[in-house]
Amino acid sequence: MSSGPVYSKGVDISCNPPQEISYPLPKARLTALAILPVVFALLGLFLLVDAVTAGESKRGNDSVSLPDIEPISAIPLKVDVNWDKVALGEKLFNDPRLSHDGFLACASCHQLDQGGDDGLPLSITNTGEPGVINAPTVFNSAFNFRLTWRGRFRTLDDQVEAVLHNPMEMNTNWTEILPKLQADADYTVLFSRLYLDGIKGKNVLDAISNFQRSLITPNARFDQYLRGRRDALTEDEKQGYQLFRTYGCAACHQGVNVGGNLYQKLGIFMDYFAGRGKVTEADFGRFLETGADSDRYVFRVPSLRNVAVTAPYFHDGSVSDLEEAVQKMGEVQLGETLAKAEISLIVKFLRSLTGEYRGRSLDME
Ligand code: HEC
Ligand code: HEC
Repeated sequence: MSSGPVYSKGVDISCNPPQEISYPLPKARLTALAILPVVFALLGLFLLVDAVTAGESKRGNDSVSLPDIEPISAIPLKVDVNWDKVALGEKLFNDPRLSHDGFLACASCHQLDQGGDDGLPLSITNTGEPGVINAPTVFNSAFNFRLTWRGRFRTLDDQVEAVLHNPMEMNTNWTEILPKLQADADYTVLFSRLYLDGIKGKNVLDAISNFQRSLITPNARFDQYLRGRRDALTEDEKQGYQLFRTYGCAACHQGVNVGGNLYQKLGIFMDYFAGRGKVTEADFGRFLETGADSDRYVFRVPSLRNVAVTAPYFHDGSVSDLEEAVQKMGEVQLGETLAKAEISLIVKFLRSLTGEYRGRSLDME
């Protein structure tokens, strides 16, 4: 327990610079953000050239020589958060009093023992009806450069505030929430220990954000491999990783979250929606934010961290099988029909991305 009030250090890691940049470095961060597009453009180009030059020999063949640069970096083993605020944020995350009628808590749709999502194709609304979009995991979301499928928010605070006000989700507001929390003796004590001004909306957001920043899943076998334990992966998983790079998956799924740092169109080589049925508003992606035609069907490339435990897949939750998701990606994003054996190797690699939360593998479900 800390003594006396503790203040947030004002470090916002939710609008995430790449992992290599250490916090807090406000000036360096600005520079980093300015050069990010160039870095990603170069990395993307490099990986695509890599994919093209690997040509025919990319079929999981050991003789392919890959460049030394790793497109993926390991999740740090520790985060810098205020653990008292994390404990308070965790309590709030599990508290249905944050919704209008007490039906939903954050944890209803983001179940930490189920990969941080709800396992449903489309998340439910507060009336229990299916909603319009799949719930992404909350694990590692602080590493994403923007939040939600279409990248609506830059910070976790903005995301949470929007969820609370969303009529389909928590459907509430501060005038309703604060008196409920103030009537609770536990909260009164906890908030007053951590915040001079006690139970206030901004402090609720701050506590939940601290909790969310603590939701990292380090120590996946793949990360152990990146840290130098070459035997942490099986030969099949290594071949799967090689295919992931040579085919060019890593041109989009890269960085610490194996995604989450770029926008890309869904359906570059083939119309994704053609075989699926009626296009809904949720399919428009970033277009809904910008109104630009070029942003139609553009989404934030999702993180593939823990992807083996976060089915069903895609923004529409239309695919429940990871093999099928990989096959579809090959078709619509790369114009490639992947062989069954290749898909199986890539999936083995993807399974090695499952990490640990509080020392326990997310795989143990
Ligand atoms: C009714 C189900 C539901 C509830 C309750 C809910 N969420 Fe979500 N959450 C979603 C869905 C669906 C999305 C994706 C929205 C989109 O992309 O437009 C999402 C997205 C998110 C994201 C963005 C993740 C990313 O990487 O893009 C975060 C963070 C998040 N929720 C945190 C919370 C917190 C904190 C609460 C409680 C205050 C909460 N959610 C309550 C369903 C829910
Ligand atoms: C051009 C960019 C791009 C390339 C290349 C790409 N992806 Fe994706 N990937 C995306 C986008 C965008 C989505 C989100 C689609 C959606 O919103 O429905 C996605 C989604 C996924 C998902 C579902 C994740 C989830 O949580 O729902 C998986 C799995 C995946 N990709 C694996 C791969 C694999 C394996 C490859 C290589 C064979 C690949 N991707 C190539 C952009 C790309």
